[in-house]
Formats: sequence, C-alpha cells, structure tokens
Amino acid sequence: MARLRTVCRRLVSSRTCTRADAATLAAALLFGFVAVAQAQQPSPSPSGLGRAPTPAELRAWDISIGPEGAELPPGSGNAAQGEVVYMQRGCAGCHGPAGTEGPAPALVGAKPTMSTNYFPIEYWPFAPSIWDYINRAMPYDRPGNLTANEVYAVMAFLLNRNGIIREGEVMDANSLRNVQMPHRVDYKGPIRWTPDTERGFKILP
Ligand code: HEC
Repeated sequence: MARLRTVCRRLVSSRTCTRADAATLAAALLFGFVAVAQAQQPSPSPSGLGRAPTPAELRAWDISIGPEGAELPPGSGNAAQGEVVYMQRGCAGCHGPAGTEGPAPALVGAKPTMSTNYFPIEYWPFAPSIWDYINRAMPYDRPGNLTANEVYAVMAFLLNRNGIIREGEVMDANSLRNVQMPHRVDYKGPIRWTPDTERGFKILP
C-alpha cells in the first residue's frame, strides 16, 4: 500500500491521495496486468473471447444419437428390467402405471393427433430417436439421470408394451438399431438441400 501511495502521489502529484484512490489504482493496475497476461497467451478465437472446451465438457454435451443409432453407447436391458425402471424412476407417476393413463402423454397404444402435433412412440420412424429422447429429456422433472442400461431396459419395456418387440428380447446398440418400427414406411425425410433448392417462401420487395 505504501508503494501504491507513492505511485498515486507521483501520478496525481497530490499530497492528499486517499485510501479510495489507492484502491482504485490497485484495481486498475491489476486489471492491466491481467489484460497483458491474457494478450500474451495464444488467442482461442478471432475475437479473443472464450476458450476451447475441455474434452470432459465436450463429452457431457456430445450426447446426440442419430436416427441410425451409430452413436448408441454400450449397455443393454430387457422388458422385465424396464418395468422396474419405469416404476422406480417415476415414469409411472406422470405417464400412468400402464403407460396409458397420463396425465403426461400416453406411451402405450395412443393415436397421433394433429391438434397437439403429438406422435405416440409407435409412430416414431426410428427406435434410436426414442432412446435419444428418453436419455436427454426424461424423467421430465430430473432429465439426464438415467444410466445407459436403464434407458435400454425402459426402451425394451415400452417397445414390448406397444407390440413392437417380443417379451424377452434384449435391447442393446445393435438390436435397437435393427428394430423395425411399424410406421417407418410412412416416413418421408426432408428433401436433400442443394444451392438450387427453392425456398419455401418468397421474399417480398
Ligand atoms: C414429471 C412428469 C414426467 C415424468 C416423471 C416422466 N415423464 Fe415422460 N413426458 C412427460 C411430458 C410432460 C412429456 C411431453 C413432453 C413434451 O411434449 O414436450 C413426456 C414425454 C415422454 C416421451 C415422448 C412421448 C412421445 O411419443 O412424444 C417419452 C418416450 C417419455 N416421456 C418417456 C418417459 C420415461 C421412460 C420416463 C421415466 C424414466 C418418463 N417419461 C418420466 C412427463 C414426464
């Protein structure tokens, strides 16, 4: 502090340099040092802002599973194990004990409605997409807490109750990818985009 006062006096050439002045000056000097130190490090982006994510941070975000299921993680489960998960992890509390009662959308045997844009899982074209949805979004009040085995098991339970797979079938990365969803043939993917593709709307002058 004594040294700061000296600097303070020299800078403002005043004998009445207060504690507040010294504190402001200390903060300014510290900020200057940090700015210089940062400027000397290689810049992570053109703007110099932010930093590259760590491998652990990337892993935590990198959870998307494509419709073909290429990214599905190791793990497995059957319908009997899935029923336990369904009860213990609170799915039954929102979707109903049989998956039909609600109040949340029915997971078993429902019909699509155009008014709510809701597609029961029987109508999803790809089973890995349901795995991805449950893994990232359910349980609704505590998402992201299921293990891979639990998601495979609850998938086996739901697919079995919807009449899509047999009772004892084990779901894992390989079998889930090969599940034939009953409405797969009705699904038409988005058209492939090229620079010549017409816009779906016109820009008015
Ligand atoms: C707190 C209530 C709640 C709990 C607990 C919960 N869900 Fe849900 N779930 C919802 C709601 C609400 C939706 C609809 C969300 C939306 O459309 O944005 C939903 C949607 C879903 C869907 C998508 C249905 C479709 O066809 O679009 C699946 C699959 C699903 N939940 C599975 C589960 C499983 C498995 C569990 C247990 C691990 C679970 N949910 C626990 C409330 C809940």
